[in-house]
Amino acid sequence: MRIEQHTPFVTPIFTIQYNELKSHKQLTDEALSLEQSKDGNVISNVGGFQSKSFTTENRLVYKFWFEILPQVQQFISLYHIGCNYDTNLDTLWYNVNRKHNFNQTHNHPNSVVSGVYYLETPKDSGRIAFDTPDKGLSYNPFYKTYFNNFNEYNSSKYYIKPNKGLLILFPSHIDHYVEPNNNDEPRISLAFNVQILARKNDG
Ligand SMILES: [Fe+2]
Repeated sequence: MRIEQHTPFVTPIFTIQYNELKSHKQLTDEALSLEQSKDGNVISNVGGFQSKSFTTENRLVYKFWFEILPQVQQFISLYHIGCNYDTNLDTLWYNVNRKHNFNQTHNHPNSVVSGVYYLETPKDSGRIAFDTPDKGLSYNPFYKTYFNNFNEYNSSKYYIKPNKGLLILFPSHIDHYVEPNNNDEPRISLAFNVQILARKNDG
């Protein structure tokens, strides 16, 4: 007899804890000054400030991107892409969640890999929660009622409590949300989408 367990489908999520990126303070200052401008979007945020998306036009963003690029490339290498490709930062936006603000369930359409870097994470300012892409687990009440301990076989949600300086990388299509901030200090993050483009003229 031979029993083999097959695990054909996997959802990777990377967490990378930096001491703090070199661009950390400048990014935090920029997030707060954009919040002051009040020129934001309302997309997944309930209350709180979500900046308009921006691209890589400024030096600060380049600095951030080149600091995290090796870890992004390591994540993308999991996919064994079968051609030469470029890894580009597509869009970025800041999130400033003040007390009681949160983000509703959403995903990042038209993107493959997404990430979020945490600039300020006061105590009880909210975890990020990822929903399983296995819809059976989400809908079947069995998975909500029969377990005291959760593992990769019975979980329909996966929570990460971020620390300042943490980077999370995840597949863009995975639904996720952010719990309310229960602290008087703001929870500040920089979210982004990464584009993977096949190089032209590569046989
Ligand atoms: Fe998001």
